Amino acid sequence: MSSAASKVARDTPARDFLAPVFSQYPFEVASAQGVWLLNSRGERVLDLYGGHAVAALGYAHPGWTDALIAQARSCNFQTNAIPMRIRVRAAERLVRFSKLDFTSVFFVNSGAEANENALRLAFRMTSRPHVAAVEGGFHGRTAASGAVTWGSDGWYGFPRKPFDVSFMPGGDIEAIAAHVTDRTAAVIVEPVQGLAGAVDLGRPYLEALRRRCDEVGAQLIFDEVQCGFGRVGHPFAANLYGIMPDMITVAKALGNGFPCAALLTSAKVSASLSLGLLGTTYGGGPMACAAIEAVIEAIESQDLLANVRRVSDYIRRTCIVGPVKASQGEGLLLGLRTSRPAKQIQAELLEGGILTGTASDGHIVRLLPPFILQEEHVDMLRDALASLPE
Ligand SMILES: Cc1ncc(COP(=O)(O)O)c(C=O)c1O
Repeated sequence: MSSAASKVARDTPARDFLAPVFSQYPFEVASAQGVWLLNSRGERVLDLYGGHAVAALGYAHPGWTDALIAQARSCNFQTNAIPMRIRVRAAERLVRFSKLDFTSVFFVNSGAEANENALRLAFRMTSRPHVAAVEGGFHGRTAASGAVTWGSDGWYGFPRKPFDVSFMPGGDIEAIAAHVTDRTAAVIVEPVQGLAGAVDLGRPYLEALRRRCDEVGAQLIFDEVQCGFGRVGHPFAANLYGIMPDMITVAKALGNGFPCAALLTSAKVSASLSLGLLGTTYGGGPMACAAIEAVIEAIESQDLLANVRRVSDYIRRTCIVGPVKASQGEGLLLGLRTSRPAKQIQAELLEGGILTGTASDGHIVRLLPPFILQEEHVDMLRDALASLPE
């Protein structure tokens, strides 16, 4: 294995007062820099998981850090009812970054909240009772976003879902018409499904969804919470496929770890907005807006979209080694298909100092690294994979 990958000792810190709802990696993070995580013994781990697709700029990025410090010093919070230039700037910058024909931004705090609001707008606009979602899709854990999440019955918890939902088999164009009808308020879809294992639904399928939504008057919502905001090497997957949805939801990479999310709406959806229709306390706070502005600034000034495309291509060309038999996904949302259970490979990689993710597909190791990843880091992954038993 290459010099990067130190042996990492297992950490299992006590966590008595934390809700026991997350399984824990056997590794504690004490600090982080660039694409590296360090534990309290100074052992370093190459982070190809990115805090679950959040750390777009990696860790301790100077521009992002300075922007947050400066904003904290000047004004750390104000309500949406009081105008602030930073909020106006962040919204404008986000729309321009998207290179899509959106006319409004509603800032919220999480991906689930963005989806909740997108669905609510679709119901208000259409007065219909049904949403079509896609098998394998993950949209969050609130009442509406959980209702459209595939396989949520195991944890949903609410006594009933707030509207009718049906799930379409992803990629099956023939099946769309039966699910998307004149009862359908919205179709919600991750263009590249994250938790499912970096499953790229592909242009023909997404175009067919767009066409069907137009035919029946349903709203097309792209949930780009995980695949959006640069992760696929374009501002959004919508750009990659050349498809204009009615709404995009975005979170994760958007704030590089400062909690924030946004709902972008087309002119038609924006026209349905009125005073008091949507609301939030923290959404659009100046710290979040400073973070968003700093992330966009870094992506643009460091040409990170091109870097994402280049490094993605390099991973796909070089990392089909050892137990990895194929790859899927787009940009730096990639799935490595493994001959052995992905959890085994993930544990072996971590022992050698490389952090990766898994997926609901038990034979996919999922990569969600920072956009600043370089070929030298990929070489470490390749060498580590090559050293593992097939
Ligand atoms: C595609 C997608 N949508 C929505 C969500 C929910 O986002 P949040 O956890 O910020 O509510 C996630 C989180 O993993 C996601 O991957």
